[in-house]
Amino acid sequence: MRILSGIQPTGILHIGNYLGMMRPAIALQDLETNEAFYFIADYHALTTIDNPETLRANSRRVALDFLACGLKVDRGALFRQSDVPQVTELAWILSTVTPKALLERATSYKDKVARGLPASAGLFTYPVLMAADILIYDSDLVPVGKDQKQHLEMTRDMAQKFNETFGEGLKLPEPYIQTATETVPGIDGQKMSKSYGNTIDIFAEEKEMRKQVMSIVTDSTLVEAPKDPASSTIFQLYSLFASKEETEHMREKFQRGGSGYGEFKKELFAKLWEYFEPMRKRRAEILADPDYIDAVLERGARRANEIADTVMKRVRAAVGL
Ligand code: ADP
Ligand code: TRP
Repeated sequence: MRILSGIQPTGILHIGNYLGMMRPAIALQDLETNEAFYFIADYHALTTIDNPETLRANSRRVALDFLACGLKVDRGALFRQSDVPQVTELAWILSTVTPKALLERATSYKDKVARGLPASAGLFTYPVLMAADILIYDSDLVPVGKDQKQHLEMTRDMAQKFNETFGEGLKLPEPYIQTATETVPGIDGQKMSKSYGNTIDIFAEEKEMRKQVMSIVTDSTLVEAPKDPASSTIFQLYSLFASKEETEHMREKFQRGGSGYGEFKKELFAKLWEYFEPMRKRRAEILADPDYIDAVLERGARRANEIADTVMKRVRAAVGL
């Protein structure tokens, strides 16, 4: 099976990205019959970043962090979206069979414009490029967080419309969304997102990560009083990283009373710091080898281009180009 996913190089990776997309994406590589294509969506990031230095630096950093989190380079390809420029050609062809009304229904466009992003044509047609990203590799499965589900549905709609118009040609992908981690809460209890400034960053310095964890918003229940684990962001985050026994232990302590939120936050910080320790180590190793990332990206681009060329040949023939 071919697994595919992308991540925009628009900021620093947080534990919502990790649990919603990266961890499932890395886990899918364990099955020997899977080939995983993961890419850095730099064309997409142009809808929000207009500084070339920032885009270059962010793209490198996402590659580094993804590799540090355990991406296995021999089980697929890690590459930059822009190293496969054929994807913009497919996006154009798809746009000619995409009803404008389909794009007008996209909630992410409306959300982004409401947050103040410029309402460019690129932002509006973002789902078409995303569909091309997926369809150009004959992808079977796409691990993403829940907020990307609508984009996957639109991708299937576009592929179907293409196939109806030109005969079979594009493979319909399936989304892969982990229900346990579909929406990871941020330190204010809302969905964790870099645009809300409520993140816990996976590779933050110790002091910074501690500060982020200690800033989790809590209610005013007194130390002695029993607390509700289900409604606590601290407990929710802890349970996503701790073992079953550790989670049960914290649940009991919540319900028993006698422990304050500060104590639980310290336990959460210790768990996160321990969880990401091997990845920080791996990250330092990668950083010590300056050519490693370039070599990985180059190899990834070669493999991705092979598949993209094959699919584009099929698509061009189907439409009459
Ligand atoms: P952000 O919201 O911080 O800008 P992105 O939109 O770049 O994050 O998301 C990158 C990937 O991480 C996507 O697959 C997205 O679904 C996933 N993701 C982001 N935030 C969360 C979250 N809070 N919970 C689960 N998955 C998330
Ligand atoms: N839109 C995704 C996000 O904002 C990134 C992305 C671009 C993507 N193309 C993709 C994800 C293709 C999966 C498949 O997170």
